[in-house]
Amino acid sequence: MREGRKKLFGEVVTDSSKAKPGAVFIALKGERLDGHRFVPEAVRRGAACVIVHRKLARTAAKDAAVVRVPDTLRALGDLAHHRRQKFAPKVIAITGSNGKTTTKEMLSAILEESFLNGEALRGKVLKTEGNFNNLVGLPLTLLRLRPKHRIAVVELGTNRPGEIERLTRIADPDLGIITSVAAAHLEGLNSLAGVAREKGALYRNIRRDGTIAINTDDLWVRRLGEKFKGTKITYGTTGEVCAESRRSLGAGGVRFTIRAGGKRSPVRLKYLGEHNVANATGAAALAHNLGVSLAAIRRGLERARPFAMRMQVETWKGIGIINDAYNANPASMESAVKTLAQIAGPGQRIAVLGDMFELGKESRRQHFNLGREVARVRIDGVYLLGKQAKEVQKGALRGGMPAERVVVAGDHRQLAERLRRRVRRGDWLLFKGSRGMKMEKVIEELRKGRSE
Ligand SMILES: Nc1ncnc2c1ncn2[C@@H]1O[C@H](COP(=O)(O)OP(=O)(O)OP(=O)(O)O)[C@@H](O)[C@H]1O
Ligand SMILES: [Mg+2]
Repeated sequence: MREGRKKLFGEVVTDSSKAKPGAVFIALKGERLDGHRFVPEAVRRGAACVIVHRKLARTAAKDAAVVRVPDTLRALGDLAHHRRQKFAPKVIAITGSNGKTTTKEMLSAILEESFLNGEALRGKVLKTEGNFNNLVGLPLTLLRLRPKHRIAVVELGTNRPGEIERLTRIADPDLGIITSVAAAHLEGLNSLAGVAREKGALYRNIRRDGTIAINTDDLWVRRLGEKFKGTKITYGTTGEVCAESRRSLGAGGVRFTIRAGGKRSPVRLKYLGEHNVANATGAAALAHNLGVSLAAIRRGLERARPFAMRMQVETWKGIGIINDAYNANPASMESAVKTLAQIAGPGQRIAVLGDMFELGKESRRQHFNLGREVARVRIDGVYLLGKQAKEVQKGALRGGMPAERVVVAGDHRQLAERLRRRVRRGDWLLFKGSRGMKMEKVIEELRKGRSE
């Protein structure tokens, strides 16, 4: 469509197979693939504009408008920032070592139940889909903004210094939260202090009239918050918003009372584990700051559901399965193992754990520590897979776990075989490891095995 000398284009895509007529295709250079190679395909599918940082062969873009920039990744972020400023919704940014996606899902569920300036927000909340939290995912999320959106809840992820700063500048959030600072992505971020510095970029770069939420139970987050000059809202044990009288409902989740602004409300959360109460309290604190009622906070939290493979409860022949195989780092391992240990009932509690990746030179020590933790929480068995399995085993034995309760397996199928011989009705199994360990394959093997 032409408007004088202006030209209007359609949706911005970075995946050529998603280009529709009129689309803008941005050629990104990824680790494995270079988007410049896919320009002809994007154009064939109808892309009317291509943004590139390399010279193209004359035939590559045919009739499409070609915009050449120094850095296409930067251009994608700048376009997203422009969209964010143009539609001016309230933007809430969530970062942290663990619990980002969970907090994002909980907060958006609350907002869908809420009113902002007297207007119902249902259908007007934009949120990050899945885990689209990096320098590509965040811009693509913001580019989905439409005039109807009143609020956006976005996840910011990092594995390299400088990413959170850039993501914060793109999203220009009104509110920001760092859920936790823990040992994760140490390969790129080096140390816990490095992780804190990186996550802290959200608080450092948020607009001056912005608000930050501070988890009082996380020492690093508390410290990062101290320097912030704008409005702060605290949550956690000693926070303005807190969760009281927690009670585990076993596989059903957890029950607690949320307190905010001198009022209280009971909540039944369909998520397992103490750490999810922390995530829920963080989401509640942000919502409370926006003026959302406690009733809406309760409705939202009770409607929110975990994603697949994140502390997802399944059953197999009367055996409880906690599928947390999506990913793992030391902090999330610890909270998952603790959650398993706390499930009441007469059956055995067995953790099936794979390696944690991206820990750099800390890897051995962190795996050893995991073993000690497993021994400390007193579960009935641990089944291990991966290059670091022996380190976990060492830690568990050192922590006093009897040797026959610690099993190291060679592959997924063997692990499933050995588990099958061990488990009985009423037992609980936890599956967790880094994404590359694909621990869900053990569950698949178990399910397809012969019945006894
Ligand atoms: N506050 C928390 N503290 C410790 N562990 C947590 C916390 N919240 C969630 N977890 C654990 O981390 C896992 C991932 O949760 P979630 O997807 O919400 O985190 P994330 O920060 O979005 O992770 P990613 O970096 O993969 O995007 C969960 O399965 C859970 O076991
Ligand atoms: Mg996530």
